[in-house]
Parts: sequence; structure tokens; C-alpha cells
Amino acid sequence: MAKASAVMLKPTRAHVAKASAVVLTPTKAHVVKVHVVKAAAVMLKPMKAHAAKASVVKAAAVTPSPTKAHVVKAAAVTLKPMKAHAVKVHVVKAAAVTPSPTKAHVVKASVAEPNSLNKMLPVSHLNGDTLRGAGLGLRRAFLRDFVATSDNAANFFEIAPENWIHMGGKFSGLLDQAAEQMPMVCHGLSLNLGGQAPLDTELILEIRDFLHRYHAVCYSEHLSYCADDGHLYDLLPIPFTEQAINHVSDRIKQAQDLLGQPIAVENASYYCAPGQQMPEIDFLLAVLEQADCGLLLDINNIYVNSINHQYDALDFLRQLPTKRITYGHIAGHYRESATLLVDTHGSNVIDPVWDLLHEAYAIHGVYPTLLERDFNIPALSELQLELQRILAIQQTQSERDKLATGVGG
Ligand SMILES: [Fe+2]
Repeated sequence: MAKASAVMLKPTRAHVAKASAVVLTPTKAHVVKVHVVKAAAVMLKPMKAHAAKASVVKAAAVTPSPTKAHVVKAAAVTLKPMKAHAVKVHVVKAAAVTPSPTKAHVVKASVAEPNSLNKMLPVSHLNGDTLRGAGLGLRRAFLRDFVATSDNAANFFEIAPENWIHMGGKFSGLLDQAAEQMPMVCHGLSLNLGGQAPLDTELILEIRDFLHRYHAVCYSEHLSYCADDGHLYDLLPIPFTEQAINHVSDRIKQAQDLLGQPIAVENASYYCAPGQQMPEIDFLLAVLEQADCGLLLDINNIYVNSINHQYDALDFLRQLPTKRITYGHIAGHYRESATLLVDTHGSNVIDPVWDLLHEAYAIHGVYPTLLERDFNIPALSELQLELQRILAIQQTQSERDKLATGVGG
């Protein structure tokens, strides 16, 4: 195991009242978690420290070491529990995988409009199928149970390719089994789409090969940045500016070209918006259009942002382009106060977020939706209940859609 390293992120803006220290603590051979040691002031309000059980979750408003131009003075908040970054530890295990068709109990409803972006994918990536129903973010904590479950409510699963590219041994074998059972989607962590440092071409090509090896149905990334001279181990907000739209759109296009397939970018949670020139929705819409990419629609992120930044979640949802929705995320969050929610993925989904998911289906049609659970991970049986709830909401909305259109009697 590597030694822990300490990184000081330098606050530079006036509103960043206190220095914050971030200690990067490798906790396993291949997983690095970030522990935020001290709380700092955010633009919203100062927060007292609260350590989430599994790891992170302290707010720190900091500015990463100076970068250039517009992405520069972003006051970044470390709120999202850190995900892993791969370390080469094992021999890569070759895997020829042919995912089987999804199960019969799968809700038939799929993306409301045929996903035009999927047409850009090589046929081998689609396996003659598109995503449908409910998915689960795969964690090693329940991987063995996941592949052994005979009545799995999940129709697809998601992994971060960086965590698996160099994985071998038993976990690699279990991943192969999971991929034989249902479609895989990949959700990247470290492409650094909003950053200033050159794109990591080597990483992108490794991801491309991984996507091919597992016939991943699609690939998504965060609309954020996570590196400068080195990795910052967090997902930091891109300023909502014209310059940043051009910058990140160009990088998405470059990454798509290298991958040979489209990327779906996820609407991010954020806790401050430095240098903001436009509303979040305008920024997101402009990037989707200019980069001509897909949207990974995270309902919990919309909910969290709508509380933290005081906007109308439904209004935001209505403005999103249906045709770009590749799939969705839903997750639980932490309630720091009535006006500050933290996107932790560490608890069950709350009712208002379920309600918002249903609204999203009513507006955009039912789309495949994946449950994220990264901390305080319960037994798989408990997650299955949340997957079943996704399926039930999809079923309800599908029936309403059929009644409304007179399809299916
Ligand atoms: Fe998400």
C-alpha cells in the first residue's frame, strides 16, 4: 500500500475564508479515498465538520493551484465522496464476454425517443440491445452476491473503468460473470473534461479498449474537472461561462474522437459557482449542443442543486433535451441543513427525489435509470428494493403513456 500523501489546496478568493487541508489516504491497494480534514467556508455558508461514515464529506471551498484562464479560480467544494482511481496492481485478464439478453421481467419501456446517439456506436457495442429498466452501480462490497442473485432486479450495471482496467484475480472474474448476465455501462472518473491539463490520451485509449472488451453499451463522464498538475481526487465545478462552454465542448469532442464513440456527460452537483455568467441550465444546454454529446441525467443532482442554489427543479428538468438522454442516475444524499444538501450517495433515495424521477419520466418518457450507492452500502437485498421502485415508477409511467396515446389497448 502506498504511503498517504497530503495535498494543500490553496484558497485564493476572498470569499474562501479558511484554508483547508485535504489528505489523500490510500486505503486499499487500488482504491484511494479522500478525507477532508478541515472544513472551510463555502459560498453558501460555513459548515461544521461532519465525517461521513465511509469517508469524506466535508465541505471545503478551495481553489486548486493556479491554472489558466477561465477554469482557474473555481472555488471547489469537496463534498462528493471520492471514488477510486486505479492503480496497476494485477495482470490484466483478457476477457471475451458476450452479455446475454436482459431478463424477461425487464420493464419494456426504454428511452422515450430512439437514442440517436446510439446510432453512432459500432454495432458490437450495442450487442443488439439498448439499455432498459433499472441499473445498479456495481461495488465490490456486493459483487459476489450480485452475480449469484437469481432474481436480480437490475437490468444493467455500471462501473468506473479506471477501477477495473488493470484489475485481475477474483474480482476480474466476478466482473466477467456480471457482464455475461447483463449489459454494462461505464462511468468514468478521471477524464478531466473541464480541466486545463491536456487530455490523458493514454487513459482514453485504455478506456476505449476496455469498452470494446466488455462490449459496454455506453460511456459517460462528469461535466466537471478533477486534475491540474496532478489529480485533485474530486469533481470540481466548471465555471458557467461562455469561455468554459467552448473549452469543455472541444475537449468532449476530442475525447469522443479518440474513443470512437459518443460520451454522455452527467449534470454535476456543485456547491458554489465561481465566475458564473449564466444559469447552470444554459451552460449545460450549450455544452450538450456544442459538443454534440449525450446526457447522463442525474435526478438527485438536480434535486440537490435546486435546494442549494434555490431554483425550480421541474423547470430545469423541462428544459433538458429528451433526445440526448442516454440514461439516468438516482441516489441518496446527506441533509446538512434545510438549505444545504450534500450529494453523498450514502443513503437511501428520499421521496422527493423519487417524485422528481417520476416527473422526469412524465416529461421525457421512461429512460433507463441506475441507482448509485457508494457509501454506507447496505445488503444487496436492500438495494434491490430501490431497484424495484425504479421499475415500478417506470411501469406506472409506461402505462400512463400507453393510455395517453391509445397504444396497447
Ligand atoms: Fe450520478
